[in-house]
Amino acid sequence: MINQLQENFSVPGLRFESGEGGLVKAVIDTPLASGEVYLHGAHVTAYQPKGAKPVLWMSGKSLFAESKPIRGGVPICFPWFGAHASDPKAAAHGSARLRPWDVLSAISNADGSVTIGLGTTIDHFSATFDVTVGAKLTMALKVALAADAPSPQSFEAALHTYLSVSDIHTVSIEGLETSDYLDKVGGTFAKVADGEAIRFTSELDRVYQNTDATCVLRDPGFNRSIIVEKSNSKSTVIWNPWIAKSARMPDFGDDEWQEMLCIESANVGENAIVLNPGETHVMTAVISCKA
Ligand code: BG6
Repeated sequence: MINQLQENFSVPGLRFESGEGGLVKAVIDTPLASGEVYLHGAHVTAYQPKGAKPVLWMSGKSLFAESKPIRGGVPICFPWFGAHASDPKAAAHGSARLRPWDVLSAISNADGSVTIGLGTTIDHFSATFDVTVGAKLTMALKVALAADAPSPQSFEAALHTYLSVSDIHTVSIEGLETSDYLDKVGGTFAKVADGEAIRFTSELDRVYQNTDATCVLRDPGFNRSIIVEKSNSKSTVIWNPWIAKSARMPDFGDDEWQEMLCIESANVGENAIVLNPGETHVMTAVISCKA
């Protein structure tokens, strides 16, 4: 399979390898940046501009197995987010992250970046995910509802981006100060915007709705800011599990909560997308860093 992929998608700076757990990954390495994308879940597991620290966080305890999600990087949550609306047995965050995606395309761009495109079909939806590794990490999730689908259908999606931080106690996130949110710690509670940047002092699990704001993650310990820009995404989810929830997750190290947080570009809950047969929706997230 690796030889076949190599032959079909031969682009400078892109190669295919057997990764953790024997799962196949695309490795991009150019003068601008390096990155990795597992075919399992179309899951970006690494992004690092040249000369910079890794931008994405990966758990040292992540599983790499066909029926399990990868912990860290950018899981794609689709076609639902969190628990399934009606089927309590259905996998959390949708089935997209539990299946191998097909490689559809690979392009070497004029600016020195490389784009790999992956795709899968779930029910009447066909999803494609284009990942561009360059001076920025650009991700575009395109969802189309088949023209012969019997009726309009809704879906939720999140690019569940795990970011690497020096110390969760010292970082802050700007951009959501004026957005109301759902607080999901210990239940689901509607909260009113408090005008403050987000800081982390305990478990934090928030769904900000009706916002297309850019988020800026300030990290004094790493002497950098990570910027998350997005389009066609009305929800932003911010998450850190803190101590007790980390301990409950078998694929998450007990102390790892101190070195990560998630800023997820999403359309979930009241911001779910409804497509008519034949319609398409594209959500993008662009991650960059500056000193
Ligand atoms: C976040 C949710 O997006 O994902 C959290 O808001 C959840 O509630 C977290 O715990 C991780 O989910 P999972 O299924 O990858 O463990």
